[in-house]
Amino acid sequence: MTELTIRCPDDWHLHLRDGAVMQAVLPHSASWCGRAIIMPNLVPPVTTSAMADAYRARILSAVPTGDIFTPLMVLYLTETTCPADLQKGAEAGIISAVKLYPAGATTNSDSGVRDIEKVMPVLEKMAEIGLPLLVHGEVTDSDIDIFDREAVFIERVLAPLRETLPELRIVFEHITTAQAAQFVLSGDENLAATITPHHLIINRNAILAGGIKPHYYCLPVAKRESHRLALLEAVLADTGKVFLGTDSAPHIDAAKLQPCGCAGIFNAPNTLACLAQLFENHQALDKLENFTSVYGPEFYRLPVNEAAITLQRHETAQPVLAPVETAEGPVTVFDPQMEIFWSVAEKR
Ligand code: NCD
Ligand code: ZN
Repeated sequence: MTELTIRCPDDWHLHLRDGAVMQAVLPHSASWCGRAIIMPNLVPPVTTSAMADAYRARILSAVPTGDIFTPLMVLYLTETTCPADLQKGAEAGIISAVKLYPAGATTNSDSGVRDIEKVMPVLEKMAEIGLPLLVHGEVTDSDIDIFDREAVFIERVLAPLRETLPELRIVFEHITTAQAAQFVLSGDENLAATITPHHLIINRNAILAGGIKPHYYCLPVAKRESHRLALLEAVLADTGKVFLGTDSAPHIDAAKLQPCGCAGIFNAPNTLACLAQLFENHQALDKLENFTSVYGPEFYRLPVNEAAITLQRHETAQPVLAPVETAEGPVTVFDPQMEIFWSVAEKR
């Protein structure tokens, strides 16, 4: 096969940032994806419908002419989120989902939730109107090992929440463990998960073996190989419960390459090429479209994209992508550490 045409994908978890960095990174998503769920962890975070509306306008004005790209806005849940504002924003079509960051779990999450009891009225309103809750599923307790924080979150927070409010529609974001895959696959239709390209491709050795590699550090941190295999198995099982969320999270290199560097992997420029290669390597190219373009809209109750995208398979492996230049400095692109023969040829 030298060409593959699929329905245009969406990205159900994307960090676009703002200002100069957004200007530089956004074209790398708009070139291959139709819609994206836009993460609200700006400084200050996007906590009201009015802020989400203004951020959406800034994004739309940065979309390159000719590209069709629809940002789907997300409200950042705090312990003071107003259920009425949220309902108004959802009914006006401004808000597509709400994001739960446990306070302190990741980049710019300090205004997140400390005590889930405090947000129950908001979650009940969301359950009533069918608005999805997107969950960063890691506990933040310093006595819990960082590699166990997702699994412990399931036990302590997510499973109890599902029991208390089974009608709440939940996306367990960027899952990284066998426990999370198992929890989602055994859940009902109100539970789904996103998976990133990098968690399907690398394990924790990429970060730590042979020297410390900050460009592979993200949250949740990549786990051991058996977890990567469980995620891959969940995707290839083709159940409709897991779909693509890149968690493309650009930080300029100067911020990553520090004694205390930030978490985030920038993969928007090569997401589809990496996924096509991975699926081909597993004789599963026929399942790629469901993961990138069908199961996400199904969960979000949106139509699939009309547009299509064509990927091309080259005779020779494609070069590793150069960093993307921004006005604030270069941003290194995810290197999958495997030969990639695919590239995106055309979106139409
Ligand atoms: C994200 C970021 O940089 O905003 N970082 C990351 O490692 N994924 C935040 C997040 O999604 O956890
Ligand atoms: Zn993220």
